[in-house]
Amino acid sequence: MTSELDAWVCVTPQSNIPLREGRAIQLGGHEIAIFNLGDRVLAVANRCPHRGGPLSDGLLADGAVVCPLHAWKVTLASGSVERPAGREACVATYAARLENGLIYVALPRPRAA
Ligand code: FES
Repeated sequence: MTSELDAWVCVTPQSNIPLREGRAIQLGGHEIAIFNLGDRVLAVANRCPHRGGPLSDGLLADGAVVCPLHAWKVTLASGSVERPAGREACVATYAARLENGLIYVALPRPRAA
């Protein structure tokens, strides 16, 4: 979910990310894994909650990514850990959208002190 406090940033053409694959980007101090699902894109923090594996290198399966290191499965829409079951761990999610073949990601604006 986005709010007026989010800043949308165009990060790359969708064609730069192969279908059903992910790629990592650095944006505003965040390392973000962006996944191309064809008709939509999803973005999460590129750090597995188990031991920090690069989720952008994982395999996609039913709207989730399987971490390449020890196979934890993270649901991309919510960031919650699907496997192993019963884990409270969660990955940060970022709003992402497609517009005219370009991928946009929303970053929360820093709050004024
Ligand atoms: S670091 Fe991802 S499953 Fe272990």
